[in-house]
Amino acid sequence: MRVLGIETSCDETGVALYDSERGLLADALYSQIALHAEFGGVVPELASRDHIRKTLPLVRRVLEEADLPADAIGGVAYTAGPGLMGALLVGAAISRSLAFGWNVPAVAVHHMEGHLLAPMLDADPPAYPFVALLVSGGHTMLVQVDGIGRYRVLGESLDDAAGEAFDKTAKLLQLGYPGGPAVAKLAEKGDPARYHFPRPMTDRPGLDFSFSGLKTFTLNTWQASDGSEQAKADIACAFEDAVVDTLAIKCRRALEQTGLARLVIAGGVSANRKLRERLSRVGEKHHVRVYYPRFEFCTDNGAMIAFAGCQRLMAGQHEELGFGARPRWALESLPPLSS
Ligand code: KG4
Ligand code: ZN
Repeated sequence: MRVLGIETSCDETGVALYDSERGLLADALYSQIALHAEFGGVVPELASRDHIRKTLPLVRRVLEEADLPADAIGGVAYTAGPGLMGALLVGAAISRSLAFGWNVPAVAVHHMEGHLLAPMLDADPPAYPFVALLVSGGHTMLVQVDGIGRYRVLGESLDDAAGEAFDKTAKLLQLGYPGGPAVAKLAEKGDPARYHFPRPMTDRPGLDFSFSGLKTFTLNTWQASDGSEQAKADIACAFEDAVVDTLAIKCRRALEQTGLARLVIAGGVSANRKLRERLSRVGEKHHVRVYYPRFEFCTDNGAMIAFAGCQRLMAGQHEELGFGARPRWALESLPPLSS
């Protein structure tokens, strides 16, 4: 089955074509970074309007790239949530209309399911069950994954997501948007011994996270510093170490608790080099195999939505003609895939 996947939940328009037999056929991404940069963060209304402009041209581009006519598409998958309501509705409306016009089924995909299945696009994908650490701009979660739609949330952030903490830290250090890559780049020049930041919620049992306190800690440290470029880099380094260390401690705990030997790291923050290195070391030490999506599929993309949607469509799931979007959507409420 060939499935067109459309992702518009936030600030990236992603469109891809996935074939259940041949794998990924084409993948196109348009990032709105330049559009939102002057505002220091995503402006929801501008995001929606830009998705309207970009989605159909990207659909044309992937069909051309795959050298396929529209009637070769067997289904359309779109991100229905969680995300920005207006942005989601653009993707849902376009996807549902294309499916109606082509007379093929459409399926609503959960954005975080897309992220956690992204490593499945690789040649050597993880087998079930595994533990997934999902670290994006909107969510931080540890999930036990027993199969598609068989998810048990083991822990999640009680306040800011890890990516959000990176973005807010970047903002207060005046590093611009998006913050994650900017903080990571500056941190390379930092002295890791200069500051030590707390590892929130690691001194008590459980797998939940809290990152909002780190932001205040960063602000106070920055205000008390000499304001030099070196101090900024040292703070970025201490912040990144604190987030990475906290995530690693909780991953180790989740692996111990579940007894599982496979760990998947996905979502935008999984592009972070220090996090990857740290979790690979955890994996080696505890005989756990660690999987990451390929670099370009860590952040938002259409390929992961096409893949997840293809699995659900092949299992017979699809939406009725009406459509909606779910800006808030619990991962555990998804139906399991009957095999
Ligand atoms: O998954 P994603 O593309 O969008 C959401 O679903 O939210 O994740 C975006 C987040 C942003 O907060 C961004 O700052 C963060 O991922 N991010 C990073 C890195 N690359 C992206 N954080 C740390 N280090 C990176 N290299
Ligand atoms: Zn995402």
